[in-house]
Amino acid sequence: MQLRPFRLERYYDVREFTARYMMSASDCETWTVAELAALAPNAADRLLALSLGYTHTAGHPDLRARIASLYAHVQPDEITVHAGAQEAVFTFMNAALEPGDHVIVHHPAYQSLAEIPRALGCNVTLWPTAAAERWELDPDVLRDAIGPRTRAIVINTPHSPTGWLPSAPTLDAIVSLARERGILLFSDEVYRGLEYDERDRLPAVVDLYEHGVSLGVMSKAYGLAGLRIGWLAVRDGDLARRVRQVKDYTTICSSAPSECLATIALEHHRDILSRNIGLIRDNLAAFRAFLDARPTQFAWVPPRAGTVAFVEPAGVTDIERYCDLVLDRTGVLLLPGTVFDETSSAVRIGFGRRSFGDALEHFGEFVDQA
Ligand SMILES: Cc1ncc(COP(=O)(O)O)c(C=O)c1O
Repeated sequence: MQLRPFRLERYYDVREFTARYMMSASDCETWTVAELAALAPNAADRLLALSLGYTHTAGHPDLRARIASLYAHVQPDEITVHAGAQEAVFTFMNAALEPGDHVIVHHPAYQSLAEIPRALGCNVTLWPTAAAERWELDPDVLRDAIGPRTRAIVINTPHSPTGWLPSAPTLDAIVSLARERGILLFSDEVYRGLEYDERDRLPAVVDLYEHGVSLGVMSKAYGLAGLRIGWLAVRDGDLARRVRQVKDYTTICSSAPSECLATIALEHHRDILSRNIGLIRDNLAAFRAFLDARPTQFAWVPPRAGTVAFVEPAGVTDIERYCDLVLDRTGVLLLPGTVFDETSSAVRIGFGRRSFGDALEHFGEFVDQA
């Protein structure tokens, strides 16, 4: 398998831990172990009593039960726990795809969603979206792209880097097209739960479609990326078995302390989500005020869910140079859109962190001096 460098990860690798102000992160403010423990009075006892042996390949039964309860029609044995969402993308693609398969992938999107099928020898068709169409996925484009060898359709909803969320009819149309041909529909739902208006929350794809697969994680909506706990919800038993067979060659099983902390967090998932959504709403309000004060300097499609938005500064032709300048002069770390799409002239802004207000102030000084 010839994997090309992961542009987003390489970009952050050399900047994330040295930049003074992170303003583009896609995860919510991280919780400390003490903060989690404060939610569950018996948390410390549970952690101290934990045995540090191998755990179940599919994930601890208590954790799987908690995860399954986030869905309408998913049983605990239809969940496979992974080391973050990234491992789950890798095992799904390896379990589901063969060289020569045709795969249709939402674009722009998190790089592994298209890169792993490509590296596996699949023919990848990018399903394009554009700011001018409010980043909508067009089911008519999908219909035209489907061919006799189409094995999987891959979408990301709520979406990074745009904060797009489909309408229910759009999602239904995508599911119907997949169902007509029995095509796998892989839905990266790592930002699910962060809809700003709860009435906009759509059913998970795994609940809508028997060949639907939903990807979830503790990193984004829950602010617990360091646990490295993600999962696949798969109702097709044969596919789930093959996913676990691939996992035998990656991590075998997850870390016991992480599984324990993830279980505790999911027992209190409503408290965690409501803190995180509150923070995003406040940061978005500050950002709208920032844009209102500079009405000609940026273009964006306001996000409807998740932690991020794609924002285009006016008159900038080299977005990577722009991000370097902002970082050099202010210590504010943006993410150039080129890590998602080489032709992009946007930056990703992240609204999930407490330091957003400070970062915005310094970014504003840069913008106003330029
Ligand atoms: C859309 C999407 N999918 C998957 C991942 C991977 O998540 P994790 O870092 O928790 O493995 C990310 C992380 O940024 C993401 O944005």
